[in-house]
Amino acid sequence: RTEIARIFADMEHFDGQDVTVCGWTRTIRDMKNFGFIELNDGSCFKSIQVVFEEGSLENYKEIAKQNVGAALIVQGKVVLTPQAKQPLEIKAASIQVEGPSAPEYPLQKKRHGVEFLRTVAHLRPRTNLFSAAFRVRSVAAFSIHEFFQNRGFVYVHTPIITASDCEGAGEMFRVTTLDPENAPRLENGQIDYSQDFFGKPASLTVSGQLNAENFAMAFGNVYTFGPTFRAENSNTQRHAAEFWMIEPEMAFCDLAGDMDVAEDMIKYVIRTVLERCPQEMDFFNSFVDKGLLERLQHVASADFGRVTYTEAVEILKQHNDKFDFKVEWGTDLQTEHERFLTEQVYKRPVFVTDYPKEIKAFYMRLNDDGKTVAATDCLVPGIGEIIGGSQREERLDVLEARIQELGMNPQDYWWYLDLRRYGSCKHAGFGLGFERMVMYLTGISNIRDVLPHPRTVGSADF
Ligand code: 4AD
Ligand code: MG
Repeated sequence: RTEIARIFADMEHFDGQDVTVCGWTRTIRDMKNFGFIELNDGSCFKSIQVVFEEGSLENYKEIAKQNVGAALIVQGKVVLTPQAKQPLEIKAASIQVEGPSAPEYPLQKKRHGVEFLRTVAHLRPRTNLFSAAFRVRSVAAFSIHEFFQNRGFVYVHTPIITASDCEGAGEMFRVTTLDPENAPRLENGQIDYSQDFFGKPASLTVSGQLNAENFAMAFGNVYTFGPTFRAENSNTQRHAAEFWMIEPEMAFCDLAGDMDVAEDMIKYVIRTVLERCPQEMDFFNSFVDKGLLERLQHVASADFGRVTYTEAVEILKQHNDKFDFKVEWGTDLQTEHERFLTEQVYKRPVFVTDYPKEIKAFYMRLNDDGKTVAATDCLVPGIGEIIGGSQREERLDVLEARIQELGMNPQDYWWYLDLRRYGSCKHAGFGLGFERMVMYLTGISNIRDVLPHPRTVGSADF
């Protein structure tokens, strides 16, 4: 079989050639003694037009009554059609029905809303919107590997099951083999996890960072790229219970260096996707978000803004009348504030740095003011936070004091503290939410529509 992508990529070569293509029917039109099929095999975004005629097909009647969604094997000649809307077509010599499609097939030629398409998540990859989204997702993922591999970063696989809560937010999914009804209990009635599979409570990871830090202290520059899980009860367009995160970790690197890498990475991914997915990106620009291409091209070449949390709060306070949640120094920035900063004030991506330590995780490096930590969030228009990162606390005494202060158990982090005992060094890293990056690249506004099989509060079908 010949992939349709190959035919479009080398039209002159295929002109007049006999080919066999296999794919699924997007549309079918019967004009009595001839007909047209738009066939899509997923090898590229575009479908190919197949012309079939009563005179040359012995099973013409069978083909003409096929429904949208049918799997077909088409054999025929490629003909260039420079005057027509599509650059070429296949004149079918034979068409074989590999798998017919029942008439109640939910995807018809009309445009369906994304809400409806979420109810048929097993079929939606066969629509233009989702074909483009998941194709861009694939190219973006590859380009992220390329970005880090080209710079000599080592790819580390960090565990999915863990006993530590990296972000300290208590939003972990418990992993257990105990049956809650018959689980062994402590005297106080709580489940006795010492008799569980791992001999202690274990959960799905919220971040690979702590493990990545172990490897950065041996390999210098590393990155992870894997699924992470959060039992956050937030039903928003930007939160999923299962999402993918890219987490580089760099030894001998400070916060400024961390932001430089983050900015370069985002620009690299944008440029790569614009270059390798022109049809998909044109589609998004026409049907999802007019102005997307222009905006991304601009972002790929302009500097990101950089502002401290304290400065950002001064700016935002002047607009408190516009916000549901009023800002003052010490409050965590909400999406409405993040979007205001990046959309109204900076009109481009911006890094906010040096947040109050109270609203950030335990591992972030304490600044000399004793109040703020060397953290950074990268905010982008349309979404808000896309990256969270920081320089890490490399001083054993300061880290131990912070762990005490937060009432965490230092024993749980003995190995993490060890890194500060044996050759500790300045280091930094960040986490890019991959789905939010894909949303940014495509203009798609709901995280459920960039995840192949989304898991969100109350929904884990398919
Ligand atoms: O800001 P977060 O919580 O940072 C960390 O987990 C750090 N350990 C990263 C690091 O420094 N290595 O999460 C990082 C990013 C966020 O900026 C956001 O893009 C994404 O992960 N994210 C989510 N994406 C989808 N659904 C959720 N529930 C998300 N929570 C965070
Ligand atoms: Mg964050």
